[in-house]
Amino acid sequence: MDQTYSMIKPEIVAAGDQKIGEILAIIQRAGFRIVNIKMKQLERETVELFYDVHKERPFYGELVDYICSGPVVALHLERESAVVKLRELVGATNPEDAACGTIRDLYGKSLSENAIHASDSVENGLREIGIIFG
Ligand code: CMP
Repeated sequence: MDQTYSMIKPEIVAAGDQKIGEILAIIQRAGFRIVNIKMKQLERETVELFYDVHKERPFYGELVDYICSGPVVALHLERESAVVKLRELVGATNPEDAACGTIRDLYGKSLSENAIHASDSVENGLREIGIIFG
């Protein structure tokens, strides 16, 4: 079994409708076990560390502001080939490019408001789980 990290982003949580439940159902139907889950507004320094890999990119400040703007739903997930399978389920970073039926196709609004984060490697997943869940 592999571990991965996912995070439902603030625009989905702020919408206050059924989207969190729908996204969790998609993830569970795809065979993921939720090892840990929490809804929380993250501290700025936690988000800066989390997205450290992007710190030289022009969108870094905007990205950190956005993720800090409201609560997120943090998920520690487990499944066989969890990283690859979750990234397939989530779709391309830009919702406009996301394959039909993926979470970002269904729920993403834009490149920054793209509904959900998914770790890009097993190593980064463990790092992200450690930062968010300790
Ligand atoms: P995520 O999977 O959370 O990882 C980094 C995030 O940066 C990404 O999703 C996007 O929401 C966000 N982002 C904002 N602007 C860009 C950009 N120009 N290129 C890539 N990612 C971007």
